[in-house]
Amino acid sequence: MKNPESYFGIQLLKWNKLFNQREMPWKGEKDPYKIWLSEIILQQTRVDQGLDYYNRFVAKFPSIEQLAAAEEITVFKLWEGLGYYTRCKNLIATAKYIAIELQGAFPTTYDSILALKGIGPYTAAAIASFAFNLPYAVVDGNVYRVLSRFFGIDTPIDTTIGKQLYNTLANDLLYKKMPGVYNQALMDFGATICKPQLPACHTCPMRKKCDAYKNNLVSTLPIKEKSITKKIRWLNYLVFEHNECVYVRKRGAKDIWENLYEFKLIESVGALPIEKLKQLKEIKAITGNQTFEINHISAIYKQQLTHQTIYGQFIRVKLTQVPNLTGFKKTSRIDLLQLPFPKFISNYLKDKNVSLNLF
Ligand code: ADE
Repeated sequence: MKNPESYFGIQLLKWNKLFNQREMPWKGEKDPYKIWLSEIILQQTRVDQGLDYYNRFVAKFPSIEQLAAAEEITVFKLWEGLGYYTRCKNLIATAKYIAIELQGAFPTTYDSILALKGIGPYTAAAIASFAFNLPYAVVDGNVYRVLSRFFGIDTPIDTTIGKQLYNTLANDLLYKKMPGVYNQALMDFGATICKPQLPACHTCPMRKKCDAYKNNLVSTLPIKEKSITKKIRWLNYLVFEHNECVYVRKRGAKDIWENLYEFKLIESVGALPIEKLKQLKEIKAITGNQTFEINHISAIYKQQLTHQTIYGQFIRVKLTQVPNLTGFKKTSRIDLLQLPFPKFISNYLKDKNVSLNLF
């Protein structure tokens, strides 16, 4: 009880036992497949939204063999809205590898879990400790925040030296008799007490020894060296309609939306007024000499990604003849809703006015 390290662990586990009321379906789960699913989903979204994704995935694919046997498009559709599709592709590839090459036997050591495609040190530690009770500390955003505040560490968390320092400290502190329980308790403590904004210091059982609390540094820690500068993009999606169908294509570009579907896209430096839009060379090339009507321009949609802020609008163009759109496929309303889209587009399609009025 004398040194702050053991004080930290004891207080954390005591808090966990007496006060932690966080309930989540993956808590206490021992199936490494389900733990892996939950962790991959939670890297993409907050717990409250992740719950629905997790439940839908587990209901549709209760085992890794079922996920491995699924059509790729079905998995992408379930993943829709989570973003960062490389993670989804890796999920499918690793499920196939385990189901086929390893005959369904999930690896049981930290190193063999870490060797799987799409699994980094964080996820490997989570699976190893939750499923197999192996002594590996998880180090996520919650852990950085709690440790930097309690121990008053001002080394930036986004530097190599910072990462090493936190990783060593987290592993030194880990309660080796119950690594799974300890890791989950630390994440829950970070999410419910030592929160990024408005932390609940008044109910915190560790505040007497918390360096940040004593020195009024709670809102200063943890420190990041680089604050990200965000690029701004404007996307104009042209929804060409002809004979009760619209035209979409699968994105080939090696970017965050690879393999998802989209309407004809024209990027611009800012919002384009309707007159400018009508005169764009790209539109003329698609519509040829036919007369066409722009029958709706959507509200402006916005999406905040880590490195970019995206603004955009959807322009519905009603055609009298088939458009000249190579690489696009003609899609009915029913089929459209089965395809996986980037969140930016599915938000538009989910908009009540749009789904009622389209076609
Ligand atoms: N965030 C990432 N993994 C988590 C977990 N197991 N519990 C709660 N939040 C999380």
